Amino acid sequence: MTQRRPLIAGNWKMNCLRADGLALASGLAAKASEKGTLGCDILVCPPATLLSDVVGVTKDSAVGVGGQDCHAAVSGAHTGDIAAPMLADIGAGYVLVGHSERRADHGESSTDIRRKAIAAHDADLVAVVCVGETEQERDLGATLSVVNGQVAVSVPDGATAKNTVIAYEPVWAIGTGRTASVAEVAEVHTAIRAELVKRFADGNEFRILYGGSVKPSNAAELLALEDVDGALVGGASLKLEDFWKIIETCA
Ligand code: PGA
Repeated sequence: MTQRRPLIAGNWKMNCLRADGLALASGLAAKASEKGTLGCDILVCPPATLLSDVVGVTKDSAVGVGGQDCHAAVSGAHTGDIAAPMLADIGAGYVLVGHSERRADHGESSTDIRRKAIAAHDADLVAVVCVGETEQERDLGATLSVVNGQVAVSVPDGATAKNTVIAYEPVWAIGTGRTASVAEVAEVHTAIRAELVKRFADGNEFRILYGGSVKPSNAAELLALEDVDGALVGGASLKLEDFWKIIETCA
């Protein structure tokens, strides 16, 4: 069995003004430092306005920092967007690409997401490529074909287990309190693993996170699954105690 170090990632989305965000990040850094040896890597993805400050308060800790999105281009006339080298420049190490809220709110396609992942790699960032089916797609029995299709197109050929993490997030489980069942998660993660192994020499080493209403009460059973190598946590990552309990599941 391949040993993959889990990654517990917090996606703050469009939440937190400065005081709350910095309190959350510094509280997390303090807990991580106090604990010493951790059973997982920790990542927080704050809104762009807080990235630089969060890098500042976490820099001597085990807490990594990532952006929530990047543009595919390195610079240019793209008002409101952020380029991957800009994230790297302020000390971020990761970036989420293809979150379902970006796919839905901004019409991002898997092709767009592949371009963003390539931009992330070119800037030496780890791309966290998000995939997941809608409720309608699940009801139609199309979950595996949708998710495998998204992985096939969104993950670039240059991906490696070092520069890419996959996050499976069923859209119907995000922010709804409804978590996919252990059997549903296992089925999709196994299918993603098979695709990665088919395509990449180190496909067995990629971390595949589950996301969608992960909380302290369900983290342990999800993280115990063979191909679940961590979690992408939205709502519960905004509460220090809850996020920490999820991290401690990996201890
Ligand atoms: P949630 O969000 O944990 O609030 O469901 C997860 C995500 O969208 O990354």
